[in-house]
Amino acid sequence: MSKDAVGFKCLNTSESNGETMRINVNQNENVNGTLILPFWQGSGALSDEESTGIHRALKKQIDTVIEDQDFKGKLGSTMTLRGTEGGKAILVGLGKKDEASTEKMRNAGASVISMRKASHGTELSLRSNDLSADELSIFVEGMMLRNYDYDEYITVTDEDKDDSEISLEVTCSEEMIESVTHSIQRMQQITSGVHLARDLGNCPPNDLYPMAYAQKALDWAKNHDHVNVNIITYEEALSQGMGGLVGVGMGSERKPCMVIFEINPNQPGPSPCIIGKGITFDTGGISIKPSPKMDEMKYDMHGSATVFGLMKALVETGWSERVIGIACMAENMPSANAQRPGDVIKTYSGKTVEVLNTDAEGRLVLADGLWKSGELNVEYIIDLATLTGAVVVALGHEASGMWTNDETLGNRLHQAGKDCDELIWPMPLLTQFEKEMTDSKIADVRNLGAGRAGGSNTAAAFLKQFVPNGPDGEKQIPWAHLDIAGTAWGASSNKLVNHGATGIHVRTLHHLITNGN
Ligand code: BES
Ligand code: MN
Ligand code: ZN
Repeated sequence: MSKDAVGFKCLNTSESNGETMRINVNQNENVNGTLILPFWQGSGALSDEESTGIHRALKKQIDTVIEDQDFKGKLGSTMTLRGTEGGKAILVGLGKKDEASTEKMRNAGASVISMRKASHGTELSLRSNDLSADELSIFVEGMMLRNYDYDEYITVTDEDKDDSEISLEVTCSEEMIESVTHSIQRMQQITSGVHLARDLGNCPPNDLYPMAYAQKALDWAKNHDHVNVNIITYEEALSQGMGGLVGVGMGSERKPCMVIFEINPNQPGPSPCIIGKGITFDTGGISIKPSPKMDEMKYDMHGSATVFGLMKALVETGWSERVIGIACMAENMPSANAQRPGDVIKTYSGKTVEVLNTDAEGRLVLADGLWKSGELNVEYIIDLATLTGAVVVALGHEASGMWTNDETLGNRLHQAGKDCDELIWPMPLLTQFEKEMTDSKIADVRNLGAGRAGGSNTAAAFLKQFVPNGPDGEKQIPWAHLDIAGTAWGASSNKLVNHGATGIHVRTLHHLITNGN
């Protein structure tokens, strides 16, 4: 696994992100360390082939709990065994084979890591001749994704810290070795992007502010030949008329900026463009938020975290076509220099906006990011934003809401989310919502709906006003908006994370872009 400079947590910018896992794929041989055994519900004892190299005493233990039905292989169940003469095993239930799914398989892999104790050691041997190459790879993907803790700021002594690298031997039949090795390697590269997105999301807002994000992006680009990162600084945003970005960010000592990533800049466009909301902390501004849970507003930059993580995933997997990423970075603070409710600002598009609530800030920075993308030869635009509390009311933490002006793009995104088990749910982009957002008495657009009803829909309708037209000048570029306020953190049903930022949609967007269907 490559360890380049973008592997950072916040304090130490040179370290590798996430936890690393050394993985080897082999034919069945001696078992080193703790044996990991996935079991379908109702499957019998181990075959001779599966038993190769397992200590007799441990094998007997395994046979006994299976025969006695002490371990049934139920979905979500795990059991630790210890042979009388040494050797340990973790049995992992996969549930019924005829009810299998990629999500269940991935979560089963993740459960190994979440239940692993120091006593299991860091050497693991995964053994299953009962899984297909795809199933085995996805099980390992779950292990890799879940193998992440954000402990950068915990100052325990080294001996107390269980951060040693896990080393995993995956054993399978000979014919499968090549394809399993290949899939795992690719998943590991993508996981490094997911872990980077989590690092950025989890980083405390006193350390991750707009220009800190920009600096990390620049540091990363320096290490890669085919990556350009361009920063539009506060001063440049001011002189270029990016009134949305400036209006939101000017109340903070830490000034806003726009970060533009370009992967494979020499390849021809038009290219996919992914835009992220990057509010490094959202106090609400002058329309200040209530105190409870305000700390969670450090995650309000997860859209931009996903953009950066995706760029890394694309580069690690060697994607060779041009892709654009735009991160709209600002800190939303109340201060003597903050924008006020009632202000009218002029966005980069030229359209004016009546700012009725300074807490509806994400849409203002995105307005400028969306318009900017129109200058960059893009094929389609996808924005990600922790945009509204209302989407959490609508969809809970189980799916991101999606609004789009292009049915084909919408269908592709919905399918990509499904393929990666990161659900994306279609929501309505109705003209009535657009009307509501464009009926300001004194400006072109208002940043707040008339009432609380349909708050996520009016937010999406606002964004649509800033989607640029394509080269023909008549029709908008295909665009989709993902509201990730419910999926970026806080989903107890997400078994792939312990706590904090999820790195949501790095996998989905990588899949969408690289599969191109
Ligand atoms: N970042 C918040 C949205 C949010 C809130 C995400 C809670 C996750 C959890 C966004 O900037 C915001 O404050 N939205 C307002 C919009 C309102 C003022 C129209 C909201 O959702 O209340
Ligand atoms: Mn807000
Ligand atoms: Zn916000």
